[in-house]
Amino acid sequence: MQPKSQFQERIKLLMGEEAEQYFEYFRKPLQNFIRCNTLKISPEELKKKLEKKWQIIQPYHEYPEIILVKSGLMPGELGKAVEHLMGYYYIQDVSSMMPPIALDPTETDFVLDITAAPGSKTTQIAARMKNSGLLIANDIRIDRINILASNMERCGVTNTVITREDAVNLCRKLEKRMKFDKILLDTSCSGEGIRDLKTFEIWNPNMIEKFSRQQKRLLAVVLSILKDGGELVYSTCTLTPEENESVIQFALDNFNVKVEEIELPLKSREGINEWRGEKFSSEMKEVHRIYPQDNNSEGFFVAKLRKIGGNR
Ligand SMILES: C[S@@+](CC[C@H](N)C(=O)[O-])C[C@H]1O[C@@H](n2cnc3c(N)ncnc32)[C@H](O)[C@@H]1O
Repeated sequence: MQPKSQFQERIKLLMGEEAEQYFEYFRKPLQNFIRCNTLKISPEELKKKLEKKWQIIQPYHEYPEIILVKSGLMPGELGKAVEHLMGYYYIQDVSSMMPPIALDPTETDFVLDITAAPGSKTTQIAARMKNSGLLIANDIRIDRINILASNMERCGVTNTVITREDAVNLCRKLEKRMKFDKILLDTSCSGEGIRDLKTFEIWNPNMIEKFSRQQKRLLAVVLSILKDGGELVYSTCTLTPEENESVIQFALDNFNVKVEEIELPLKSREGINEWRGEKFSSEMKEVHRIYPQDNNSEGFFVAKLRKIGGNR
């Protein structure tokens, strides 16, 4: 299966000569990353257990919960392991662990994960909050909420309330009653970072504009329920500027927000300055583009906004 020619052209425009490398990574197996669920076990204890059967490494000194299983594995082996069933770890690509690291929630925060299912980031946020504070995990799809609930149960999450609402409706309902310290908006997207040959099949240029409009709409409503001074992380698993820099630019143009600097343990690129005639703010140097070829991971985009407050 080959990527569609328009997909190839766009990636070439974005990455230049590196486009070939990007597409090569779709044919390479993903590395087996897991995240230690510190609500149930410490990284040291988990390491001792897993080392009995697999070769494992913790590649990021400051984040011992990020574990890479180096051994060759049978299909489904990570999911069937007793330590997984016990909720000691969550199977999650390392790039997908970056948005909660950027959000950096604390034990006293009031946090909203507005598009939460199946819960890889909800469970990570709850672990970072040490099951304290309050987390609301929302999604619109009941089938995905069921998986979210079972993941939360397996991981021993107890500080989280699940809601099932369209994000726009939820924000309108909450707007006059409550505001959040921190919000994660990890939106549905065109998935250019997902290293699966199905991405080539699914990709079509029309969905990019559709997602971009939805993402701007969601970002506008979630900003209405963020406290002044509060922080919002916007993330996607795609690389299209329409769904990334353009969405952040929309927020800069219409709301009192600024792009915050974030430090992530993965290699990443700055945001781009221009795309097909649309110019972006110099603040895009603080957003992170994570390319598959940089860390042998999936592709991701992560940006953090702070609400300055006041009207405009
Ligand atoms: C990229 S996935 C989220 C992945 C999740 N954050 C995780 O880490 O496991 C996007 C989610 O947004 C949900 N979604 C899409 N549109 C929505 C809307 N208008 N309101 C609420 N949820 C929505 C989808 O059902 C999907 O589960």
